[in-house]
Amino acid sequence: MTIRQGVSAALAFAPLLLAAAAHGQDGTQQAAQHPGRSVVMSKCFQCHTDAMFRDQRQDRRGWEAAIYRMIGRGGLWTPEEINLMADYLGSDFGPK
Ligand code: HEC
Repeated sequence: MTIRQGVSAALAFAPLLLAAAAHGQDGTQQAAQHPGRSVVMSKCFQCHTDAMFRDQRQDRRGWEAAIYRMIGRGGLWTPEEINLMADYLGSDFGPK
């Protein structure tokens, strides 16, 4: 293996190593980011920040209802996006 190949191989694996390192970093074990998170970030922030809902705690059904209220206010999403967002909100902002 040439040095060049070695370097690019190392770079290719760097994200994996970083992810592995970050994972075991502290006892709290940051759960892997929910796939719905980025959907919420990109969709909900079009009209307001998470300040509007981050203090709320409700189950998935409650969040789904909130999402449908937002549709009434002009939100436009596919059923898949609604599902993902309700899953994410219900798990990260659920009643605990
Ligand atoms: C099309 C614009 C729009 C989008 C997109 C939007 N919202 Fe809203 N949202 C509003 C408006 C308007 C209000 C009312 C603001 C007020 O009462 O001052 C609101 C209020 C809220 C409230 C508090 C009032 C209620 O009905 O519960 C929650 C919770 C909320 N939004 C969650 C969300 C979530 C979660 C998303 C992403 C799925 C989202 N919003 C996306 C417009 C939007």
